[in-house]
Amino acid sequence: MQDKIMLGENIYWVGKIDDRDVPFHRLTLTKGTTYNSYLLKTGLPTVIDTVDISFGREFVENLKELIPLEDIKYIVINHTEPDHSGGLGSLAAKAKNAIIVCTEPAVEELKEMYKLHNREFLVVKDGDRLDIGGKNLRFIETPYLHTEETMITYCEEDKILFPCDIFSTHVANYEYFNDLAKEDIIEDFKVYYKLIMHPHRKYVQDMINKIKDIEIDIIAPSHGYILRSNVKEFINMYDVMSRNTVKDKKAVIIYSTMTGNTKKVGNIIKDNLEMNSIAVEVIDVNKASGEEALRAVKEADGVFFGTSTRYADMIGGLEDLLKELKNIDLKDKIGGVFGSYGWSGEAIEVVQDYLRETDIKLLNTADIIKSTGMTDVMFPIRIRFSPKGDALKQIERASVYTAELLLNGM
Ligand code: FEO
Repeated sequence: MQDKIMLGENIYWVGKIDDRDVPFHRLTLTKGTTYNSYLLKTGLPTVIDTVDISFGREFVENLKELIPLEDIKYIVINHTEPDHSGGLGSLAAKAKNAIIVCTEPAVEELKEMYKLHNREFLVVKDGDRLDIGGKNLRFIETPYLHTEETMITYCEEDKILFPCDIFSTHVANYEYFNDLAKEDIIEDFKVYYKLIMHPHRKYVQDMINKIKDIEIDIIAPSHGYILRSNVKEFINMYDVMSRNTVKDKKAVIIYSTMTGNTKKVGNIIKDNLEMNSIAVEVIDVNKASGEEALRAVKEADGVFFGTSTRYADMIGGLEDLLKELKNIDLKDKIGGVFGSYGWSGEAIEVVQDYLRETDIKLLNTADIIKSTGMTDVMFPIRIRFSPKGDALKQIERASVYTAELLLNGM
């Protein structure tokens, strides 16, 4: 066991320094990284996050030198990605009395990933507090930073924020704290932000609003340096980097609808884009002239094409417009397709086929997953019947993603 690294009274760093070239999100982290886990040795001892799955056993062995594992009362999992939850399987097997604390979307993931179907979970929501015997934890949900289930844990007495991936750096450092760093860490901090957080910057702003009134002495993330000097400056950097930087972006939504459901989807896209600072024009292709629709396409930065499906094909005049598109320059525009359907929604795919013959940047699920790791932004936007429930969330995620792309690029 290495020297005890302490952040405050009874608060230990119990992570792992990984100084290899680390493969991560199709990159190689040439400076390595760390997986920071923390033990709060209170009346109800609590572990916050674990380490990468490759170091699970070593993590548990090291932890055992600080505390009998059966004494651990809570294991807080802020984020389920295996570089942080990976030690949970090994730890839970030994810490048999521990309750796992996480957000609701994390429960099923953790049960499946680590075979924890018979374990006790404590589901926490935004603002919930937990007395861990001498200290109190507060939980702040931070969805989509960078996955849906993520949250921040805040220790009220020590004013320490445990934000997991947020405010991290990928550096295998042996100094632990930023005030002891041998070199300037700002560039590494910004590079990490750009890679992992920037695609989700709307949610970065939401997170900053949630923490802005909290007193924070230390930020203890789960990669790289623990920030205990210039803390406000690091938060401010996230604020500045995540603000919208390009204004006056326009989108046009061109649709053809059979029963009105595709029109409803288009209007929900419109509302979401407008809420995210995009000017939007909506055109019913069956009521506008071909020239008017083409003019709108040429003027827009982003174009959504929507259609209902009837007998496996699109309806109305949309196809005439699509045929014109390969003759015009669309290379600086983003294109998305949406539609309501009742059976199989072939028309939505046919519209995509037309757009693939142009030079528009066509939004599609596979490319989004590959470039951002987001699995909940789906293009084309396929909605069965009238948009409601989960469909509204699906449309919102796709629209917010598009707005961010238009405002800031990726
Ligand atoms: Fe460091 Fe999202 O994992």
